[in-house]
Amino acid sequence: MTNETTQLITDIGELTTQADGEPRRADRAMLVQGGRIRWIGDATHAPAADTRVSVGGRAVLPGWVDSHTHLLFAGDRSAEFEARMAGQPYAAGGIRDTVTATRAATDAELESTVQRLAAEALAQGTTFLETKTGYGLDVDSERRAAQIGARHADVVSFLGAHVVPDEIDTRDYLDLVTGPMLAAVLPWVSFIDVFCERGAFDVEQSHEVLLAGRAAGLGLRVHGNQLGPGGGIALAVELGAASVDHCNAVSPADLDALAGATTVATVLPACDLSTRQPLAPARRLLDAGVTVALATNCNPGTSYTTSMQFAVATAVLQMGLTIEEAVWAATRGGARALQRDTGADAVGSLVAGGRADFQVLDAPSVAHLAYRPGVPLTIAVWQRGQRMPR
Ligand code: NIG
Repeated sequence: MTNETTQLITDIGELTTQADGEPRRADRAMLVQGGRIRWIGDATHAPAADTRVSVGGRAVLPGWVDSHTHLLFAGDRSAEFEARMAGQPYAAGGIRDTVTATRAATDAELESTVQRLAAEALAQGTTFLETKTGYGLDVDSERRAAQIGARHADVVSFLGAHVVPDEIDTRDYLDLVTGPMLAAVLPWVSFIDVFCERGAFDVEQSHEVLLAGRAAGLGLRVHGNQLGPGGGIALAVELGAASVDHCNAVSPADLDALAGATTVATVLPACDLSTRQPLAPARRLLDAGVTVALATNCNPGTSYTTSMQFAVATAVLQMGLTIEEAVWAATRGGARALQRDTGADAVGSLVAGGRADFQVLDAPSVAHLAYRPGVPLTIAVWQRGQRMPR
């Protein structure tokens, strides 16, 4: 099938488009051509097409937009996980173990891990993926991660400011991150990120990192308020960051700041469970009018999963989101967190003229994503109009 062949997706049990104000509908069909959706409408008025693909009454929805992952790593931290499940608290110290393993890995090893995880995510319906550097923490290792990441992810964020590595003091490291390291990764990254947390970078240091990234033309992201209260959320809002991620400890002032801001609050339920943290207060955020996204935070330390379906199911079953809210947060919400939810190259929604990135569930409705937890429901994925082999 060439890219110009028209495909009509028919017998859709329920179509979720995430177009503004459009409800889930049972009577729709969708015409795909050249990587884009050419038409969406009433199935009884569907245009002619070169091929018809019946989805047999199943649900169709946009591909997941996973807006927070750390796939550029080597090594295994299952022993740390096991100790945590036996009562050891998470304190981010394991990041340095991953840094040691990542620096020691060959390019081929690093590439094969990110390739495997990106393929695993795609097979489960993730059609747009962000990943971060942050396990290299020296100029060459961060450059290498950014370069390899850009071959396998749609968006790469520079997280040189993850923690201060052992061999250098904090002031010198900040000079490196905001100077030569930033310059080295620049060709491959579109955001700068910082871990603003006790034991990582304080608010003033995070501010410095973010301003250097902005001056270099990058968008801003923040890891904030994960392990306790702090100034990460306030800083993200103050600087107009695209997203502040984790948001486990949200004060009333944080809530007010986010409610009046364009900054998305990205919650990471798989991480909360794997670190035995209280779940991020996603319901409270939504009730205050905050834009919420859901992501996997796939990484070897705190959340070793690529399953957006798990994030959606947990958000519904444990965080009090409705099905509609959770699916929106994992598609259009993720797109907004990456500033990719509008314009010609928007992702996370299905509209005529837009990208044909969608998935088919082996279920009649998106409700089954939480109604059947743990069951992998995605049975077919189209990315840029091409059906992905399984
Ligand atoms: O988002 N919070 C900081 N960084 C990562 C994981 C760090 C780790 O490897 O432990 C996170 O959870």
